Amino acid sequence: MRCDRLWKDARLATMTGEGLGVVERGVVAAIDGRIVYAGPASDAPAFDAQHAIGCDGRWITPGLIDCHTHLVHAGDRAHEFELRLVGASYEEIARAGGGIVSTMAATRAASEADLVGSALPRLDALIAEGVTTVEIKSGYGLTRGDEMKMLRAARTLGVARAVRVRTSFLGAHALPPEFAGDADGYIAALCHDMLPAAAEAGLVDAVDAFCEGIGFCAAQTARMFDAAQRLGLPVKLHAEQLSNLHGAQLAAEAGALSADHLEHLDADGIAAMAKAGTVATLLPGAFYFTRETNVPPVDGLRAAGVPIAIATDCNPGTSPLTSLLLAMNMGATLFRLTVEECLAGVTRNAARALGLMGEVGTLEAGKSCDLAIWDVERPAELVYRMGLNPLHARIWKGL
Ligand code: NIG
Ligand code: FE
Repeated sequence: MRCDRLWKDARLATMTGEGLGVVERGVVAAIDGRIVYAGPASDAPAFDAQHAIGCDGRWITPGLIDCHTHLVHAGDRAHEFELRLVGASYEEIARAGGGIVSTMAATRAASEADLVGSALPRLDALIAEGVTTVEIKSGYGLTRGDEMKMLRAARTLGVARAVRVRTSFLGAHALPPEFAGDADGYIAALCHDMLPAAAEAGLVDAVDAFCEGIGFCAAQTARMFDAAQRLGLPVKLHAEQLSNLHGAQLAAEAGALSADHLEHLDADGIAAMAKAGTVATLLPGAFYFTRETNVPPVDGLRAAGVPIAIATDCNPGTSPLTSLLLAMNMGATLFRLTVEECLAGVTRNAARALGLMGEVGTLEAGKSCDLAIWDVERPAELVYRMGLNPLHARIWKGL
């Protein structure tokens, strides 16, 4: 059988089924950027490959997927970090006009080209570790024009680099100063003007919101979900990060792809997510950086069979993290996730959190040929090390 490229002499973690899907003597074959075979060499058809690539026993995993980032933003919040080091809390800083709103001011002042330029080093850091799909949110513009500027910048990043970008509209991230005292008015503007305009322009793959005391309440979140559903867009939610507003349950009942953070998730939230098949996206970088002490209820999620994803949450305020490998290490160390759970969290479950299960996340015939090839002796090393990047090669759409 003819194929374009054939990776051979490899060990595979196909990430199909429940665990790693280990194949000790494996090959991957691709035609036109799609996997046509990934599995044991002994069962493979006799391939006539245009290019055959010997892997010397290296491990191949699916290309990694960072399913929750705020990669596009201007400026940084190093000064707030300094304030937190001498005792201020994230919520105090937010209420004093810092936090998300300070990044909003910088992002509004930035041009679209500035946003692309400042995000590229962050994107390149992810790519250097084998990331082939990245989700990028808006949420620091908070006007129609500035939210669309952020989303266009995100789309441009997907053209500037060999990476698949999925956008989420996060207009309901914080209340902009123009709407001070009128959160309902802002939600109405989001639902009736800003979101439809961004969706109409083809800039929105999903709709997200920040359901929190310093964000938006459950009723306002529900209005965002209704607006998303009217436009045929899937939803996801920042839920139960700092307190429990029962956002995960609301999200699950709306059929959300994922509910994210979840440090304060309760049993009802877990049950609702399990029933709906909503992915729990855990963000250990934000947990670490804010010195949160409530660990997400991993045992409960596991027992209920809720799929768990892990992401960087790369953002200037609570998680200035651009390493998905380190996020996995933190997921294991801080949340006691297993190696299999960590790897599933940045591959098949991250794909599910983006609604991309048919396209990426496992090594399977029919999916995009997105591969990460690693200089490791066992997959656990990808989770175990801190700060070493063992990526040997990265393949996106077969190239
Ligand atoms: O995911 N929780 C809300 N959004 C971000 C933080 C954004 C910021 O502080 O700039 C998060 O943690
Ligand atoms: Fe976030």
